[in-house]
Amino acid sequence: MKFKFSYPLCFFLFVLSSCTNTTYNDIQLDEDVNSDFVTYQEVKPIIDNNCLNCHSNPTQNGASMSLVTYEEVKNSVLNRNLIDRISRNDGADGLMPQGGPRLSQDLINIIIQWELDALLEN
Ligand code: HEC
Repeated sequence: MKFKFSYPLCFFLFVLSSCTNTTYNDIQLDEDVNSDFVTYQEVKPIIDNNCLNCHSNPTQNGASMSLVTYEEVKNSVLNRNLIDRISRNDGADGLMPQGGPRLSQDLINIIIQWELDALLEN
């Protein structure tokens, strides 16, 4: 049988390929939605590496609360002056991590930006 050129078929294939492209672009956009904001995913490794030897669950060395979960860290920024504590000068009373050294300013800035970006989890 000879293949017959068909306008409806061409049109159908054209629409199909357009749909595929549109869907792909939408998925890309969704994944990038929070890429401009600092989220807890960037903050967690900083806390894990510098705070959990005392602020674990259960706490150690007299630390007042644990900083293991998103809710705990967020709550400590809102109600326990976490950003003030990590921003104090080296050697100052109450600086965290307790006993120093102070975190690098780059790491402190990530946590400050996290608060400015509304303390998002993801
Ligand atoms: C060597 C142990 C140790 C480490 C490491 C440590 N802390 Fe602490 N932290 C303490 C102790 C003990 C207290 C309670 C005494 C005080 O308030 O200074 C405390 C208190 C705090 C408080 C005040 C809590 C309140 O109830 O007001 C905050 C906020 C805090 N730590 C945050 C942090 C953060 C953030 C880190 C990591 C960057 C960290 N700490 C690392 C021992 C530690």
